[in-house]
Amino acid sequence: MAGSDPKDNPYLAHHYNGRKGAGPSTPSPSIKEPLSGFRPRKVTGEQVRKALNGDINPFTKQRHTPQYRKILEARKKLPVYAQMDEFLKIFSENQVIVVVGETGSGKTTQIPQFVVYSDLPHTKGKLVACTQPRRVAAMSVAKRVADEMDIQLGRHVGYSIRFEDMTEPGTTFLKYMTDGMLLREAMKDPSLERYSTIILDEAHERTVATDVLMGLLKGVAKRRSDLKIIVMSATLDALKFQNYFSLRSGVSTPLFKVPGRTYPVEVIYTQEPEPDYVEAAIRTVLMIHRAEEEGDVLVFLTGEKEIEDACRKIRLDAEDLINQDSESVGPLVCIPLYSSLPPQQQQRIFDAPPAARSTGGPRGRKVVVSTNIAETSLTIDRIVYVVDPGFSKQKGYIPRIRAESLLVSRISKASAQQRAGRAGRTRPGKCFRLYTEKDFMSEMEEQTCPEILASNLTITVLELVKLGIKDLVRFDYVDAPAPEALTRAIELLYYLGALDNGNLTALGATMAEFPIDPQLSKLLIVSPEFKCSNEMLTITAMMSVPNVWFRPYDQKQQADAAKALLTLPDGDHLTLLNVYNQYKRNIHDKNWTWTHFLSHRALQQAGNVRAQLQRTMERFNIDLLSLSDEKELYTNIRQTLVCGFFMQVAHKGEKGNYLTVKDNQIVVLHPSCGLKPQPKWVLFNEFVLTTGPFIRTVSEVKPEWLLEYAGGYFDISTFPKGETKRALQRIINKKASKSSARVDSGKDDRKAKKK
Ligand code: CDP
Ligand code: MG
Repeated sequence: MAGSDPKDNPYLAHHYNGRKGAGPSTPSPSIKEPLSGFRPRKVTGEQVRKALNGDINPFTKQRHTPQYRKILEARKKLPVYAQMDEFLKIFSENQVIVVVGETGSGKTTQIPQFVVYSDLPHTKGKLVACTQPRRVAAMSVAKRVADEMDIQLGRHVGYSIRFEDMTEPGTTFLKYMTDGMLLREAMKDPSLERYSTIILDEAHERTVATDVLMGLLKGVAKRRSDLKIIVMSATLDALKFQNYFSLRSGVSTPLFKVPGRTYPVEVIYTQEPEPDYVEAAIRTVLMIHRAEEEGDVLVFLTGEKEIEDACRKIRLDAEDLINQDSESVGPLVCIPLYSSLPPQQQQRIFDAPPAARSTGGPRGRKVVVSTNIAETSLTIDRIVYVVDPGFSKQKGYIPRIRAESLLVSRISKASAQQRAGRAGRTRPGKCFRLYTEKDFMSEMEEQTCPEILASNLTITVLELVKLGIKDLVRFDYVDAPAPEALTRAIELLYYLGALDNGNLTALGATMAEFPIDPQLSKLLIVSPEFKCSNEMLTITAMMSVPNVWFRPYDQKQQADAAKALLTLPDGDHLTLLNVYNQYKRNIHDKNWTWTHFLSHRALQQAGNVRAQLQRTMERFNIDLLSLSDEKELYTNIRQTLVCGFFMQVAHKGEKGNYLTVKDNQIVVLHPSCGLKPQPKWVLFNEFVLTTGPFIRTVSEVKPEWLLEYAGGYFDISTFPKGETKRALQRIINKKASKSSARVDSGKDDRKAKKK
């Protein structure tokens, strides 16, 4: 075990593990070592406070900056800070702890720092990890904590999210990371030996990755008595986690409660249900601005487009209001917040509200219109009014037909309570619920559904198998997924060639090394056989980033025209390739993305993703090949797609609508699809239920390819009766008669066949 001896002198150990040789990290003899006398995991609050108040940064050995002192004073006011002694004691005495506390009490920023001071991971060459379900939160909190610790982000404190690693091996000892990243690390190192303490934060969000990590860590904790685990939650779900972790260990898991220091929030319901919640939200914001006292407003809406539209209307209406009555109405700024917003723009939510006009009148007001991000992951100070329409976008998955949905749905009571809580952080506040009290009582679920019950589990199952978990049904889930969701995932992995008799195949093991869906990694692995791996790499990267197209509401026609110029008729996958290639060709033209209604940020991200996937390909000696003949190349690309997405094929039936193969679901091409004319057979990347059963990112395929490259799945004898089966049968018959006619002249010119 690479562990530690608690009697070690941590200062000496730090010297050993730190960079070799002298240099700035060697303190001058006159400076007293700030951590002297600290015994790992036996550190007291008094010791930590003394170190925090000291002149010298114990990790960089530099003198503290004035900014450090200023932030430290703010930290001292957080509820968690007042409980440092109690926390350190519980941390010393227990292996697993569940922490529950109001959003904004300082859990995410302070607890990991307390842990660092007690655990002293740097003295034993280990790390403390703190997971976050959202990328945005991992990045922004790591930045904040680096500032709090007077450290450059990416050195002792860093973050790691998919496709972006902001850490320095050997130096970083506190790492904020997405839960998905930690799960991936567990695949390489199932005991997570690098970590001395793992903190699962925002556990109440119940993402698939956090849920699976809880199951894994419960097992690891039994093998590794030196590993400490902290589960943090903003809601009373905490009791569930406490029971979960207590069950098998036989030792009860303590609950560490951070008392909220919140002010009362008056909750106001509407008398009647609101027919249009966006319109009602806008109206409520203006009513607050006109009639309520000073204080900022937080509005919860469901997505980027809705938020941008609402912000625009709020700004216009506020202007009208001010023009009518500039004496009693102050200035208003309206700021959007959602995850695809660039980081600098996300920072704007922390800006101070506008001042009063120079001519007098009341102070200005800041209105933040946000998705669920602001519910618990990010705390915005000085919010006094919350407008809660009662909806959010929620994931759904129907395993029977493999359809995913992201629908605007009613939030849970627990969510509604969280939202209301945001109004009482600085002084008594008000929460305007745009639904009736009756609906709150009778229509809303108690808790939000855990994601594991509403997700496609293909990648999760592959990860679990890679982790050596054989019995997926009996894995110790916090909430077990539906058996059908597991079966569907196993079936797909089996057809992809990743599993055989419940075991991971060599192909499956390689697939698991890519941080993308198994269907996509399969494409990368087989693409050299079709001599299009270079292009497939681009297409896969483009499918792994957010939508690259802009379509502003007042420039829809121009946007559509710009898109048409880059669209290739054979399929959206080739269009994605074309867009990326054109972007690269015009990389020096600063206006190119802008004039083509493309997101520069998304394309840049695609470039990063591409580079990272390429490194993984190189690691497995997967060649990067290309063909010079464009026609042949485009055909081969679509054939490659069949090798990964054969289960996502639809056939145009006699009535002119598309039916998915085997499941026979009627589907419709998404309006964003550029295929013209509509071909008989199509392959799609996504089947989403939104306003209709849409298939998105679609390309034409030939039925012969299905039989040739996905014969296992397109085994006609197992096909359900129907139009698709008849169509396939015709192809088989035709082929048989052709080949019998050709039998003596025949040199088979088939392409390289996939295994
Ligand atoms: O995790 P929890 O919701 O309990 O609180 P936190 O995220 O640790 O936030 C505690 C305080 O740190 C907030 O109220 C903010 O004042 C501050 N903070 C910040 O200024 N910038 C951030 N990116 C995160 C937190
Ligand atoms: Mg938090």
